[in-house]
Amino acid sequence: MELFRGLVVISLLVIILLQNSSNVQGRYHYHKTKNKSHNKAESPVSPAPDNVPEPQDPSVPSSPVNPPQIPSDPYPNDPAGNSSSDCIFDVTSYGAVGDGSTDDTSAFVAAWKAACAVESGVVLAPEGYVFMITSTIFSGPCKPGLVFQVDGCLMPPDGPDSWPEKDSRKQWLVFYRLNDMTFTGKGTIEGNGEKWWDLPCKPHRGPDGEASKGPCDSPALIRFFMSSNLVISNLRIQNSPQFHMKFDGCEGVLIQQLSISSPKLSPNTDGIHIENTKTVGIYNSLISNGDDCISIGTGCSDVDIEGVTCGPSHGISIGSLGVHNSQACVSNIKVSNAIIRDSDNGVRIKTWQGGTGSVSGISFQNIQMENVRNCMIIDQYYCMSKECLNQTSAVYVTDISYRNIKGTYDVRTPPIHFACSDTVPCTNITLSEVELLPEEGELIDDPFCWNAYGTEETVTIPPLNCLRDGEPESEGEVASYGC
Ligand SMILES: *[C@@H]1O[C@H](CO)[C@@H](O)[C@H](O)[C@H]1NC(C)=O
Ligand SMILES: *[C@@H]1O[C@H](CO)[C@@H](O)[C@H](O)[C@H]1NC(C)=O
Ligand SMILES: *[C@@H]1O[C@H](CO)[C@@H](O)[C@H](O)[C@H]1NC(C)=O
Ligand SMILES: *[C@@H]1O[C@H](CO)[C@@H](O)[C@H](O)[C@H]1NC(C)=O
Repeated sequence: MELFRGLVVISLLVIILLQNSSNVQGRYHYHKTKNKSHNKAESPVSPAPDNVPEPQDPSVPSSPVNPPQIPSDPYPNDPAGNSSSDCIFDVTSYGAVGDGSTDDTSAFVAAWKAACAVESGVVLAPEGYVFMITSTIFSGPCKPGLVFQVDGCLMPPDGPDSWPEKDSRKQWLVFYRLNDMTFTGKGTIEGNGEKWWDLPCKPHRGPDGEASKGPCDSPALIRFFMSSNLVISNLRIQNSPQFHMKFDGCEGVLIQQLSISSPKLSPNTDGIHIENTKTVGIYNSLISNGDDCISIGTGCSDVDIEGVTCGPSHGISIGSLGVHNSQACVSNIKVSNAIIRDSDNGVRIKTWQGGTGSVSGISFQNIQMENVRNCMIIDQYYCMSKECLNQTSAVYVTDISYRNIKGTYDVRTPPIHFACSDTVPCTNITLSEVELLPEEGELIDDPFCWNAYGTEETVTIPPLNCLRDGEPESEGEVASYGC
């Protein structure tokens, strides 16, 4: 019954996402690339309708929800670009200067309010300008089909000293209480993060390589909160003071063709973080940064990640979960056709001791590793301080599959590390076609497992002799574990 209800909800959401993304396609005019001569010959008679999706090239990993194509023209259905301009709210028409130093916040807020009030309104930050705005909450509800389109450059004030005293230091752009909204454009969101990374409170920035004490808030660049049916596409997002994108309390999120980048040593600059968010697709994006490429927190389910390239980064991470004895539930996460390179971790599941709940139904498939530490890691002893006491409860980790994971690892750590709880073992781990070779030199430590149960369908390289067959005796008691 529970499962059935779940399936119905998921199907509905998929339908909503499908409709949503085809709406998006309908709004943009985009150029056909295939069978040009054929189209040309036909076009004087009847031009192809814009809302018919292109057939997908099978060699490119594609999302199952008909992703929007690259928008190239913000003025849909009109070659002269005039007839639909009543839906375009250009921030320069609301007084934005876009010289990189004038505070354009009020113009953005005014354009937002106007666009929010009409169906399919477009807030446009045009090409050729650099807009600076302060921490702002763009809130709904709005009329459906709202588009926030950045074709130019949009950025926050440069560092903590320029940050207005009255503004939150935890977030910059916030989108709140929206349904059916698109954030897109061919422009750049420049985070101006450098002065935040250099604060003495940040790891390794203090006088002796130690972080100094004291408040250390740094803003997440873009936050979506309590919103549904979102499409985020095409933008270049870079140099965030902290997380680049954060989703909390959202449902139905399609992320496509983003490019996220920050330097390798920038602290806490996670690429995309989701928590309490359901039905998410993250496709065909490039992420390089100083922390997790994608991190998945508690309360997430039905997340599909495909065609993502990470690196340098700290890999794709589920967790950390169960901190301060909390309950965490994460289920049905699929990561496929990914490349992870020059990263501190590959695919990771990390939980604190003392938590409850479960991580279940996780599939890692077709992942290429290039010079990665801890290519495959489950750590149920996650601890920031190295002073965590052993506790008996733990977030249960089960039904985890690793298929076709190949490439090279950095020999400083074993490529496979499954450290499961003494009292709540990991169960039903499946490995198939896992082949990991040293990037250079020799393997120093063999793969490690502790209390990890599962099966190898094919022989793993390097050999994994530590996985336990069958099921632990206590498994029945923990199986549901509150989720
Ligand atoms: C392109 O044209 C060829 C030959 O006319 C046809 O077989 C093919 O299906 C067409 N492809 C598309 C995407 O229209
Ligand atoms: C469309 O707008 C442009 C520039 O604003 C103008 O020059 C042109 O005459 C307009 N075209 C029509 C058909 O209104
Ligand atoms: C916690 O348990 C692990 C695994 O049994 C053991 O190696 C470690 O020494 C224990 N730590 C403490 C602080 O008791
Ligand atoms: C083990 O996990 C797989 C998914 O990886 C799932 O299909 C299967 O049903 C699970 N087996 C058991 C016995 O729970």
